[in-house]
Parts: sequence; structure tokens; C-alpha cells
Amino acid sequence: MSEEHTAHPADERVVLEARGVSKHFPVRRGPRSLLGGPRRAVHAVDDVSLRLRRGSVTALVGESGSGKSTVARLLAQLYPLTSGEILLDGRPARAGRGRAFRAYCRHVQMVFQDPFASLNPVHTVRYHLTRALRIHGRAGNSRQETEAALAELLGRVQLTPAGRYLDSFPHELSGGQRQRVAIARALAADPRVLLADEPVSMLDVSIRLGVLNLLRDLKERLDLAILYITHDIASARYFADTTLVMYAGRMVEGGDSETVTQRPAHPYTRLLLASAPDPDRVTGGGDAGSAAPEDEDTDPAAGEPPSLISPPAGCRFHPRCPMAMERCRTQTPPRFDLDDGQWAACWLYDTPAAVPAGTSGASGTSGAGSEAAS
Ligand SMILES: Nc1ncnc2c1ncn2[C@@H]1O[C@H](COP(=O)(O)OP(=O)(O)OP(=O)(O)O)[C@@H](O)[C@H]1O
Ligand SMILES: [Mg+2]
Repeated sequence: MSEEHTAHPADERVVLEARGVSKHFPVRRGPRSLLGGPRRAVHAVDDVSLRLRRGSVTALVGESGSGKSTVARLLAQLYPLTSGEILLDGRPARAGRGRAFRAYCRHVQMVFQDPFASLNPVHTVRYHLTRALRIHGRAGNSRQETEAALAELLGRVQLTPAGRYLDSFPHELSGGQRQRVAIARALAADPRVLLADEPVSMLDVSIRLGVLNLLRDLKERLDLAILYITHDIASARYFADTTLVMYAGRMVEGGDSETVTQRPAHPYTRLLLASAPDPDRVTGGGDAGSAAPEDEDTDPAAGEPPSLISPPAGCRFHPRCPMAMERCRTQTPPRFDLDDGQWAACWLYDTPAAVPAGTSGASGTSGAGSEAAS
């Protein structure tokens, strides 16, 4: 059985956890459906479990519409859950509104894709950061203390000297500087978790690395747990300790980033990698773009993600999967543990050999299966 499902292993580094989390958005009824019939919903996220650890970056990768942002918003408690649980420090967190939500935000902050949209164009950097410090009671008791806190925040995101930036408006900054201000604003809460939803995808390629390196530096210096959402699986390898792969609202594979990107187990991860060639992986000239030895049949362009209103039964990837078997059409695959902490939700690994030594082979596997069915 997968680590994420075991009762309570003593893992003190885990700060934020999602357990079997789902989010379904009801579809607004058209005139015809008002006459009756079942209420339809977008199955944006289904049965997602993940753990964020201090001092560690977890990448969440997947195509557009796979549910990545919804997972981040659920972790930030911006939406109520359809089912499942979010735990902060091992305790169920139900933020609600008002004071309880603010207390939650002190620990868990988000950074969005577009810093232009997330910063108010009529306000200066000083205004944005002072306001964030005040909300979280960290602006100090005097003007000097506020100035010191502002300078410290800008120093953390390497915008120095602070005086050069404090009275600038968002449009006077470069894209990279704006995103650094957005990160500084998130840090004003002194959070332990940063949920970064495609934090560099709107930035020029030339400055992406600088912002990712900044986040990595913050992870180390502030011991932050970072969720890094991206559809660029190559950047996950570079930047994240752990990589999780989502497809059509479900988590399909996870493990340390090096393993997942170099030895992808799930056919979908292979497809993702094959469509994002990585120079380190491709050795011969002739097989450029081929991610794994057995995937000659994989055409990265074949098919597209399914409707999330009536997602395919069984494995949601089966209509596109070159290795689909009969059971994939009807039975949802549970997580199967592979070596080195890697796992894949794929029936290909339903073999005793896939279960690591030390766990009870067949019973572990069938246990995971019955869990998924329940
Ligand atoms: N508030 C909402 N109401 C209805 N449907 C929604 C809502 N938010 C998201 N969805 C749907 O949920 C699914 C997942 O969306 P989500 O934004 O989480 O995907 P994503 O992986 O972040 O995609 P992208 O890479 O494009 O940002 C999509 O089908 C989307 O249309
Ligand atoms: Mg998104």
C-alpha cells in the first residue's frame, strides 16, 4: 500500500497534507436540463492525496485542465472540498471565513502565475507589502520597524537596495521584479507553505531560472514547503525534490523528481516527457523524443484529455493509452509502489515484483485495490 495512505508514519517534516481530496463543480443547468435528469458536475479533482514537507519542493505537473490549480486552491482553502480532508500539522483544517481563514493564511500562502493581475496597478510596492505585513501583525509598532520589515522582505527576494523599489508602481518593474514583489508579499505572512501556481510561465525564458533559483533559496533558508505547479516537466526535474503527475483530475504517478523524469512509470508521464524533449535524456540522434524503450507506439499528439463532466470509467487515461488492457476500461487503478519511493496508479504494475521488499506482496496490492474501489 502506498505511503500516502498509511495510518500515521512519524514524518515530522510534513506540514500540509491532502487526503483523498475531491472537487466537483456543478454545471449550471441549461433550459433543457431543468426538466430533470441527474445534476451534472465537472470532476475537476478526484481522490487526490499529497504531502508537502518543510524544506522541500513538490512539483505538480500535468496538461492544461488536469486540475492542478484546483488542487492548489483547495490546499489554500479557497474552495470548500467536495470530499476528503486537508490537514495542517496533522490536524484537520477547515478554515471557513474571517479570523480562522486569516490564521490559516498565516501558514499557507499562494503565488499566482500573473504578477500583473495579482498586484494592484494603482498602488506602490510599499503599499502592497505594508498592507500584507499589517494583516499578519508583522509591521511593527513604529515607522522604523515597518521600514526595517519592508527592507528585510525585499532583501529576501533579492530586490536591493529596498529604496529603489519601495515607491515603484507595478508597471515600473520588469516581469521578474513584479513576481519577486508578489513572492515578498506572500512571505510577509512568514508562512511555512508556499503554493506557487505556474510562478514563472508568464515570464521571459531568460529570467525564469532566476525566479526558480530564488524560490529554491527561500526553501532552504526559510525551510519552506513549496508546491510548484507547472506543465513543464523538465523544469520539475531541475527544481523540485518530488514530482507528482496529474491527469484529468487524478494523480497518476509520483516519486523523487529524478526518478519520475528519468524512469517514468505511467504511460501518461512517458507521453508528457516525450512531448517535452529533454537534451539530457536523449542520447542517440535517431530516437529523439522517445521517453522509454517500450513506447514506440506512443504518439504524443494522439488524443486529448477527456471530458471531466463524464470522465472515462476505469483509468481516465485508457482511451489514449497505448498499453491499455481490458481492466483499465472498468477498474480504477490504485497506487502501486515501485522502487525508491516511486509509485504509479497503473494496472501495468499489478505484479508481485512491483511491491518493494519488506511489504507483504499480494495482500499489500489487493489492499490498495480494495481501497480504491471503496
Ligand atoms: N470555478 C470553476 N467552476 C467550474 N469549473 C471549473 C472551475 N475551476 C476549474 N474548473 C474546471 O476544472 C478543471 C480543472 O481546472 P484547473 O484550473 O484546476 O486546471 P489546471 O490543471 O490548473 O489547468 P491549466 O494548466 O490550464 O492552468 C477544468 O476542466 C476547469 O474547466
Ligand atoms: Mg492552472
